[in-house]
Amino acid sequence: MAEKCQMCLLELIILCSLLTATIGVDDTHKFCSSGENVRLPCNNALSGCTSTTWTYSRYSEAVELMAEGEKKIDPERHERLSLGSDCSLNIKNVTKEDYGFYICQQYVNEQQQGTDAHVYLHFLHVFPSSTQSEIRPGSSVTLFCQLYIDGVSCDTLVSSEGVQLFWVNQAGANLQTDSRYQISPPGQCSSTLTTTLQDEDHNREWRCQVTQRNEVKTSAAYIVRYSDSADSTSEPVVFMTAGPLFRVIVIIVEIAVFAAPTVILLQIICSRRAGRKNSLPPEENRDVYSNTMK
Ligand SMILES: *[C@@H]1O[C@H](CO)[C@@H](O)[C@H](O)[C@H]1NC(C)=O
Repeated sequence: MAEKCQMCLLELIILCSLLTATIGVDDTHKFCSSGENVRLPCNNALSGCTSTTWTYSRYSEAVELMAEGEKKIDPERHERLSLGSDCSLNIKNVTKEDYGFYICQQYVNEQQQGTDAHVYLHFLHVFPSSTQSEIRPGSSVTLFCQLYIDGVSCDTLVSSEGVQLFWVNQAGANLQTDSRYQISPPGQCSSTLTTTLQDEDHNREWRCQVTQRNEVKTSAAYIVRYSDSADSTSEPVVFMTAGPLFRVIVIIVEIAVFAAPTVILLQIICSRRAGRKNSLPPEENRDVYSNTMK
């Protein structure tokens, strides 16, 4: 029974991939992150764009964005959309709401001309773990890098389109082999980076890059900011950044350092006074003093 199911599943997968291979001749994958401007190509366009229709869909829900080369009313995106001279769809200041599947079609007298142009827009986002309590030196931080996709599986993106996620530092160096970081294995559409924060990490940036066939397509970054040091005024940095236990140790050490010579000095004075009161001979008094010094 289980074997039969596996066979069915395998057949289904093969059938699906065959269908995608034949239908998706004009598939384009676009990658973006927050605030970017993107251009989605419409490779089947007729001149003038008056026959161009752009349709957006996510989770199988379709919205017509452009029809007969004119913008349709879509309150969320209206201001940010425009049609290029080659009938491509321009989206300004991209947000997470824009990822999904876009179709460009040409209609003349309600008859479709040519084939569809399919564009998958994928959105890359980096964010810290929601359970992150404090951003300060010594604490552990976990960053998530997520590629939001729709209409295509992550497996297809990774195996057929050669898509990969990488963590890099400010200099662009790959952090995968850096022992300071624990990074989830590559080959997924999401990745986590975990590290213990160090003093010098304030204003440090960790960047997640998406590459397609080894070419960087877009990236998104997270910048560490220590909230404590931002509103510190007169207090020394060690007290701002150190934990309570460390503070107690520092205070004890300080007391010990300042108090020890005072106690010794008091002892000397007391023993001298006591010596005079008991009216010891001056020689003996000197011996007591020199003994304490030894
Ligand atoms: C881009 O969109 C964000 C909100 O998503 C807004 O705060 C920002 O001002 C916009 N930037 C531009 C240049 O329109």
